[in-house]
Amino acid sequence: MVPLKRRKVTHPQTPDQHGETCKFNDVAIFIIERKMGASRKSFLTQLGRSKGFRIEESYSPSVTHVVSENNTGDEVQAWITNETEEKDEKASICSLHLLDISWLTESIAAESPLQVQDRHRLKTSPKPSAHVAVKSYACQRRSPLNHHNTFLTEPLEILAENAEFMENEGRNIAFRRSASVLKALPRVVRRMEDLKNLPCLGGHSLRVIKEILEDGASQEVETTKQSEQFQAMKALTGVFGVGVKSADRWFREGLRNPSDLIRTGQKLNHTQQAGVRYYNDLNKPVTKKEAEAISDMVGKAVRAVLPGAILTLTGGFRRGKEVGHDVDFLITHPEEGAEEGMMPKVLKWLEDQGLLLYQKTTRNSYLESRDGPERAPHHMDRFERCFSIFKLEQTKECSGTTAGAAGMSEQQSGPSWRAVRVDLVVSPYSQFAYATLGWTGSKLFERDLRRWAGQERGMSLSNHALYDSKRHHYLHASSEEEIFTHLGLEYIPPSERNA
Ligand code: CTP
Ligand code: MN
Ligand code: MN
Repeated sequence: MVPLKRRKVTHPQTPDQHGETCKFNDVAIFIIERKMGASRKSFLTQLGRSKGFRIEESYSPSVTHVVSENNTGDEVQAWITNETEEKDEKASICSLHLLDISWLTESIAAESPLQVQDRHRLKTSPKPSAHVAVKSYACQRRSPLNHHNTFLTEPLEILAENAEFMENEGRNIAFRRSASVLKALPRVVRRMEDLKNLPCLGGHSLRVIKEILEDGASQEVETTKQSEQFQAMKALTGVFGVGVKSADRWFREGLRNPSDLIRTGQKLNHTQQAGVRYYNDLNKPVTKKEAEAISDMVGKAVRAVLPGAILTLTGGFRRGKEVGHDVDFLITHPEEGAEEGMMPKVLKWLEDQGLLLYQKTTRNSYLESRDGPERAPHHMDRFERCFSIFKLEQTKECSGTTAGAAGMSEQQSGPSWRAVRVDLVVSPYSQFAYATLGWTGSKLFERDLRRWAGQERGMSLSNHALYDSKRHHYLHASSEEEIFTHLGLEYIPPSERNA
């Protein structure tokens, strides 16, 4: 309520300008016409005044009770904000009573303004505070695919990528975390002040952000993008099967792009040979439509080989991305163990159909490496994974529309098919929830899930299992929701894991 002394003082029991005697001067009522209509407003106004109520002609800061019919609290709030914009009197809004018409009709019936009760009040959504609280682990936040700050996150991710090329993991993660925090913000960052109290923003990131906010671009980012090393590393690591180490060695030997690899007769492994051969296609974004077409093909293969098998699209497409660099799948069967040995059969089926350009199957080695508990139980080392390249027949409207950027072997007319990178993973049913969570990403989201598990819960999370290191046992989960619960985290759906 606005303190009474601030209100216009009118003498009680004096006739107002409408000729009615005003009995309740402390209660200044304004009726919103919107949705009620002029005639009903006029009727209620006259009736109210005849009972001695003070009903205002227009909205002003002296109004204490706003009544409306069929409007939400937010609508009324918006209407008032609009009315008071010029007068700069918004401060008083928060102390106003925003009421349903029932308060007025009941008051009129009682011939006295009723004490406002909760049922009279219009519900308004809580006001967002100026500084949003952002949690520090990516797995505690909701990161939608489309956010408000790409003009900041893209430059920061260039610097992250460059740090990755320099094998500076700390710097890479620092820039990725900064970008990720900005992705979770509900609005555009306009001033440095908007970043107050946000976690994970280091000095370097803040300098870059400040420069972009003030000058429109960051010198460091622009220089990086233009640098020969960055461009060459991007082109060379863009070859499927080429990591940062090989790319860096080649760069120091003077090689700049995949054509240089061929021209100088570099020794390439099978994966890299396929990578060079399909370079243009593999650097062309895979569309959702193409992912669906491949999903159909793999689904057919999987069901033909093992009836009842389940195929799940994971990776970026499960998070709602429109394009991706590959298509990721997870395969399982409700009968534990039935999935064993199915990868070679699926691949043979696909090969027989002429759908495979390249494939390499590996036994999973997560548990022996950094991701999992020290000693894996015997049933945990049979994840099989296949990195492959599919041959996808193109429909007319798809082919030829996007010419390859690197211009290596792209024909002018475009072939009737394109190459697409596909990742296939087979998981036993008992680990399916963990595998789904692990293969859905994003990479930073996964990284923070594991970090959260270890640092905050004393647990060890992998794509196979969750191990409670204090109680020395594995935690079973048959859904992603259960895993979040085990970890003491609020469930974040795939579409909001785009950290
Ligand atoms: N992944 C993994 N182990 C790997 C490779 C990938 O666990 N050796 C997981 C990653 O953590 C990620 C998911 O698989 O969560 C998908 O990886 P990837 O296809 O590289 O990335 P996407 O998020 O799908 O992005 P894109 O659209 O570019 O493919
Ligand atoms: Mn992917
Ligand atoms: Mn992948």
